[in-house]
Amino acid sequence: MSNFDPRDFRNALGSFATGVTIVTTLNDEQSPIGITASSFNSVSLDPPLVLWSLGKKSNALKSFQESGHFAVHVLCNRQSDLSNQFSRSGSDKFAGVEWESGVLGSPILPDCMARFQCKTQYQYEGGDHIIFVGEVLEFENTPKSPLLFHAGSYADSRPKPKIIEQEEIINEHTGRVSDSFFSFLLARAHFQCAYQAQEVMQAKEIDEKSMFILGLLSMNGAMSIDELNEKIKFMKHEVFISDLENLQHKSFIELENDNNRYILTRLGRQTFIELASNIASLERTILAQLSETEVIDFKLLLQRVINATSVNIPQLWN
Ligand SMILES: Cc1cc2nc3c(=O)[nH]c(=O)nc-3n(C[C@H](O)[C@H](O)[C@H](O)COP(=O)(O)O)c2cc1C
Repeated sequence: MSNFDPRDFRNALGSFATGVTIVTTLNDEQSPIGITASSFNSVSLDPPLVLWSLGKKSNALKSFQESGHFAVHVLCNRQSDLSNQFSRSGSDKFAGVEWESGVLGSPILPDCMARFQCKTQYQYEGGDHIIFVGEVLEFENTPKSPLLFHAGSYADSRPKPKIIEQEEIINEHTGRVSDSFFSFLLARAHFQCAYQAQEVMQAKEIDEKSMFILGLLSMNGAMSIDELNEKIKFMKHEVFISDLENLQHKSFIELENDNNRYILTRLGRQTFIELASNIASLERTILAQLSETEVIDFKLLLQRVINATSVNIPQLWN
């Protein structure tokens, strides 16, 4: 027995990005059987061999061991629902799925990226899996985008650009800065989004600094003025007693018991939640102009920029 943590091991294996396939065959009653598998791989060109592995606990094990044939369907990026359907144990995996019989009888599914019809050539013990090696009798391939699986999630593939253009960011002669200057893009996007958010805040007579204070108290709980300043200073703001008195006067915050830490009142929390959800709906309108994948990429990239620049910057909330 190995002594490493099973979850760590699984995560490490999941770092290897794969495609996703559905492997099909027939059971002894000639009914279709199928399973989602990412363990598919090529083995040999001549003879043409491929492999995949099946967990020994699978309901489909006996059928794959006895049928003598299987078909591998490489899924395209529009087929994640189909992948989920074929990964649910105990369900009718072929419900609503059109299929026809292949050369050796394995069910053939439509609209995939590639298909390999195989005769089962070898079966090997592989711990808690059985490794199936098949000889490819027929295959088809269509130019589509593949569905990928990485770190427990589906993913799209995007080829890496081969040529990275070195664009001139600042023209030393004219003093002009290129429109693709990263800092310019980031600042402009921020100010344009913040401008709209500020209009929402102004309607409630709350300025940017007050919004930060309400946000920090909402996310962190009770905080003293020093603790607030510790978090807020990198945003080039400073919290003064007068700011806190002003928020107290509006009944948004109060002193916690008799110590020097501030907490949100009911009204303060309500106001913060209302403002934050107004800003969130504004954000949805802006992001609706991007595709779902672009939104995910955009957030991921922003997070990476944040991580890359977070040295000496305090965590804003716990
Ligand atoms: C993306 C993905 C990849 C998978 N790859 C495999 C695999 O390579 N081998 C395997 O045995 N199970 C794999 N599974 C799990 C099986 O699909 C699942 O356990 C099986 O369909 C359960 O139904 P069954 O009991 O009818 O076999 C995968 C699941 C997903 C979502």
